[in-house]
Amino acid sequence: MINIRQSTVEDLLSMQNCNLWNLPENYQMKYYIYHALSWPQLSFVAEDHKGRIVGYVLAKMEEEPGDVPHGHITSLSVMRNWRRLGIAEKLMTQSQKAMVEVFKSQYVSLHVRKSNRAALQLYRDTLKFSVHEIEKSYYADGEDAYAMRKELQVGGEKAAAAKAK
Ligand SMILES: CC(C)(COP(=O)(O)OP(=O)(O)OC[C@H]1O[C@@H](n2cnc3c(N)ncnc32)[C@H](O)[C@@H]1OP(=O)(O)O)[C@@H](O)C(=O)NCCC(=O)NCCS
Repeated sequence: MINIRQSTVEDLLSMQNCNLWNLPENYQMKYYIYHALSWPQLSFVAEDHKGRIVGYVLAKMEEEPGDVPHGHITSLSVMRNWRRLGIAEKLMTQSQKAMVEVFKSQYVSLHVRKSNRAALQLYRDTLKFSVHEIEKSYYADGEDAYAMRKELQVGGEKAAAAKAK
């Protein structure tokens, strides 16, 4: 049985560990703490029946002057043995809901490697993100990123911000 819940400061080491197992993009603990203290509502974990963290989504709000409020997915991963069970989809859905309810986020953005077939299918086909632009050599090893976006529902109306930008 899997429980999806908001992450707490106590989860940060387990989230970092999950990140280290699953992704080449790793962050210092202070970056996790920055997320947890600034936007505690936006990051979620999946825990198994023993309370072990098997997946997480780390998210934030972008604070660019002159831009509409929008959320950003910093990192998402699920441990190998727990994949294809709908965990990533649930984590993403919870975070997007909180972005709208708490911060009136008009859209959500993320980056994904061009070669990351699983994540691309999740974002594009399951979660209905679309490619906003290609960022050349975005990753440290030189791989391009798709910058993806998805409009979010604010106050029941569809925000046009993601398309207009
Ligand atoms: C990408 C990742 C987070 C998906 O996690 P997950 O919990 O297995 O995803 P879900 O079970 O919620 O998948 C939902 C849908 O996404 C798509 N999807 C997920 N994994 C896929 C795969 N390996 N191949 C093709 N499609 C996939 C499918 O459409 C799937 O629906 P289905 O299982 O009904 O076909 C996971 O594979 C992972 O942690 N990968 C390594 C880290 C990573 O790449 N993170 C994203 C960085 S941008």
